[in-house]
Amino acid sequence: MKMNVKSIALSAVIAAGFMAAGAMASDKTEPRNEVYKDKFSKQYDSWHATDESKDVVDMLEKVPSLVVLWAGYGFAKDYNAPRGHMYAITDVTNSLRTGAPKNAADGPMPMACWSCKSPDVPRVIEEQGEDGYFSGKWAKGGPEIVNVLGCGDCHEKGSSKLRISRPYVDRAMDTLNTPFDKASRKDKQSMVCAQCHVEYYFEKTAERPGFVKFPWDMGTTVEQMEVYYDSIEFSDWTHAVSKTPMLKAQHPGYETWKMGVHGQNNVSCVDCHMPKVTNDKGRKFTDHKVGNPFDRFEETCATCHSQSKEFMVKQVEESKHKAEDLKARVETQLVKAHFEAKAAWDAGATEVEMKPILMDIRHSQWRWDFATASHGASTHAPAEVLRILGTALDKAADARVKLAQLLGAKGVKQPIAYPDTSTKAKAQAALGMDMKTMNAEKAEFKKTLVPQWEEEAKKREATYK
Ligand code: HEC
Ligand code: HEC
Ligand code: HEC
Ligand code: HEC
Repeated sequence: MKMNVKSIALSAVIAAGFMAAGAMASDKTEPRNEVYKDKFSKQYDSWHATDESKDVVDMLEKVPSLVVLWAGYGFAKDYNAPRGHMYAITDVTNSLRTGAPKNAADGPMPMACWSCKSPDVPRVIEEQGEDGYFSGKWAKGGPEIVNVLGCGDCHEKGSSKLRISRPYVDRAMDTLNTPFDKASRKDKQSMVCAQCHVEYYFEKTAERPGFVKFPWDMGTTVEQMEVYYDSIEFSDWTHAVSKTPMLKAQHPGYETWKMGVHGQNNVSCVDCHMPKVTNDKGRKFTDHKVGNPFDRFEETCATCHSQSKEFMVKQVEESKHKAEDLKARVETQLVKAHFEAKAAWDAGATEVEMKPILMDIRHSQWRWDFATASHGASTHAPAEVLRILGTALDKAADARVKLAQLLGAKGVKQPIAYPDTSTKAKAQAALGMDMKTMNAEKAEFKKTLVPQWEEEAKKREATYK
């Protein structure tokens, strides 16, 4: 992340000013989920049960190509599949991607990395402004962002009324001309999820340094966001092998859901992931155990469909397999393209010669990532996912045809020698990544700094009413 040094210093001063004025606890957000344990016990208990989805699936072990595709970026160090909402803070803290900071000012990641993990995020924004919240490194937020993703993220304080809890989400919804206040109940049910299950990036402007922004100014399709990112010459990182200015898609679940048959019919996220259910006392409530809709088939799919559960599961599995097959083909092509681009650089290719090739790689990988990182997209919008992956394959082919010509012109013998990247460990070694040191530093961080954060948070919360 490149940020304007002056503006960081300035926002730090502003933040300090806010604190000096007396860090008032926010009166708009109650970050502590436990406060609602008795008053809303059915919702609380079902929310808490998201901790039952606890399996950690190491995606880099499963798909070693990912290490090469994300070379030079944090995701090549560590990337697990998503699991229950209850693990949001644990997982961001334990990930090698957030590194091993030694103090509040230590990198590598910015504060923005907390943004989809906790109701303490709106609390701190309300107390310090977005300038205060977004300034500084991720480690600065350790003692502040401690209550896991919960009531205050989706609800007004003490109430069942839904809300957008982050100002940058309100700005994004305004961009689409769908302000939350004017939205229907159905729309609101999906918009609360869209606070986090979307594509986003961290701004590099002087007005909003490091702020989260959704790249929706030109629209929400994969092509429209690509044009937007190109127009501001944005890149998340420079690829360590091919030197491509890369885009990392996050998880555009809201955008891809809209493209599918359910989104088109305004079947909301909540219809499938948070159904209305009846407890053993015959009382109706919203099941807050956000997870796999098939776990409550009768209250989800079966409210609209008459087919059997087996039939529906099979439909979903088939969509997934088709997407996975095409996805793997794109990965194979992209891994080769990155190494071939390196071979071209090594053979003396110029920036001018490489530019169109790197643009093809950038666009191919962005589309591949968009289709696969938006978890559940092969279920939510199967046709759109296959379409996007098809265009990703096409762009990768364009890159490789150009590379073959360039390598030929430079007298490089083809096929080039590709390193062995057939397992996570081999791929990381091929890229010269020192995993042993990274893991040791992370363990030290968890042993020393994390307990201090917890201690500080306890003291602060003891002053709450
Ligand atoms: C991810 C967003 C989200 C989180 C987190 C969340 N809720 Fe909800 N909540 C909803 C949605 C969506 C509804 C249903 C709204 C509707 O019916 O339109 C709802 C409904 C409710 C209702 C109304 C009664 C009912 O069951 O429909 C209560 C009360 C409630 N939630 C309490 C809580 C409490 C307490 C927590 C924290 C332990 C919490 N919620 C966490 C999204 C959330
Ligand atoms: C404040 C941000 C935030 C909001 C709001 C939010 N999510 Fe999530 N969601 C996450 C994060 C972060 C994870 C991954 C947690 C992890 O793996 O540690 C996740 C994981 C999930 C998963 C995977 C669960 C599993 O067990 O594998 C599903 C499904 C999901 N969310 C659906 C939803 C739906 C539906 C809504 C709206 C009702 C919603 N989320 C609202 C941030 C959010
Ligand atoms: C028509 C029902 C339906 C709707 C509407 C829907 N989903 Fe899903 N979603 C599913 C199913 C089914 C799965 C796949 C579960 C599986 O893997 O078997 C899924 C998977 C997911 C996953 C991936 C979970 C994982 O562990 O990989 C996330 C995240 C998710 N949905 C979020 C959302 C969000 C956010 C919305 C709204 C923008 C939404 N869903 C709308 C049915 C739905
Ligand atoms: C609130 C109603 C509703 C719920 C709940 C719902 N669906 Fe649907 N579903 C629809 C509608 C509407 C269509 C479009 C039907 C049409 O166009 O004929 C549809 C279409 C589909 C299709 C055909 C998709 C396509 O691309 O043509 C599948 C498969 C499907 N749903 C699966 C599911 C599954 C699985 C679940 C539960 C996880 C589910 N639906 C939950 C309303 C719903």
